Amino acid sequence: MRILTAVGTRPQLVRGAPVSRALREAGHEEILLHTGQHYDGALTAILPEGAGLPAPAVSLGVGSGSHGAQVAAAARGIAEHAARLLPDAVLVAGDTNSALAAALGARAAGIPLVHGEAGVRLGSLELPEEVNRIAADHLADLLLAPTARAAAAARAEKPRGRTVDAGDPLLDALGDVASRGEGTVAFEPPPGEFLLATVHRAENTDRPGRLAALLRDLDALRFPVLLPLHPRTREAMRAGGAAPAEGGSLRLLEPMPHGALLGLARRARAVVTDSGGLQREAFWLGVPCVVLRYRCEWTETVEAGWAVLAGGGGADLRAAVEAPPRGESAPDLGAFGGGTAASRWVRAMEEFLG
Ligand code: UD1
Repeated sequence: MRILTAVGTRPQLVRGAPVSRALREAGHEEILLHTGQHYDGALTAILPEGAGLPAPAVSLGVGSGSHGAQVAAAARGIAEHAARLLPDAVLVAGDTNSALAAALGARAAGIPLVHGEAGVRLGSLELPEEVNRIAADHLADLLLAPTARAAAAARAEKPRGRTVDAGDPLLDALGDVASRGEGTVAFEPPPGEFLLATVHRAENTDRPGRLAALLRDLDALRFPVLLPLHPRTREAMRAGGAAPAEGGSLRLLEPMPHGALLGLARRARAVVTDSGGLQREAFWLGVPCVVLRYRCEWTETVEAGWAVLAGGGGADLRAAVEAPPRGESAPDLGAFGGGTAASRWVRAMEEFLG
């Protein structure tokens, strides 16, 4: 097979590496296209060399912009390159603007579309990611769902493509980090006595007052809070004047490589985040997770008792940090493919494209 894989954001690089390696190991040709949605070195240099992701053969350099502008620019570029390269399929995973662009671009070029991380749903079109993932699922010929729950949700919407429960390659990537060894960070309080936080979702960063209130609540917790800052959040803080006060608990850090972040997560008292990726990773590591959202897609982690929703911050956040959620049983890695997703994605594509 000749697969044109589209990536554009930090999570797509992390998840893409195991799949990219599995494609090559199975003797297939992969052409990597980077849309340029994320362009900061801090976001693109997230994986070490040797993680399995080749340098992109095509870079579109679309950069920042509104949802419409970003999707349109990337879709145009992807369609042009797909029509020129004539791959057997375009593969894109997730729910970012780059994912929707790749779906539109593949369709425009008449190339079969494989959508990974299919069937993940929140149930609200207010979230830009939900719009992107629903559209990509319905444009896809092959839908690769990360869990049985996601596969069922996709099938219930009767997409035109075939849906396969094929596992979550982010869990494969976690295994890769463990085998490579973690990076280190300069400042780290004793294990179990600090919190690792990330905040970057539009619902938390782009509403006036919301980000400032969350940061105030984090700053007032009685444990040090390490917060690697996504550029979106840094920019929103600058624009809204939401700087933490001297002497509080917050320690602002630069975005960090995947291995270093997971090393911190593993040693934290709890992870406090609005990221779906970090929420799953905390679950798989058996680390309590406080979700800075009112609802989330990865309900398996909440039902298992390892994650708790604290969208309002404040007292809910304080209570969750004082008594971090610990499930009664060990996290069920099998529900996410048990770390074998990359090879299952490749097999599903082989069977489908035959
Ligand atoms: C995107 C995804 C989100 C994913 C996240 C992971 C969409 C709609 N959202 O969010 O699902 O969880 O990536 O990181 O696709 N910016 C920079 N440098 C960069 C990238 C972004 O400064 O390299 C700033 C720009 O001001 C930009 C803003 O961040 O306007 C938002 O970036 P964007 O790519 O729209 O979405 P993310 O917030 O990164």
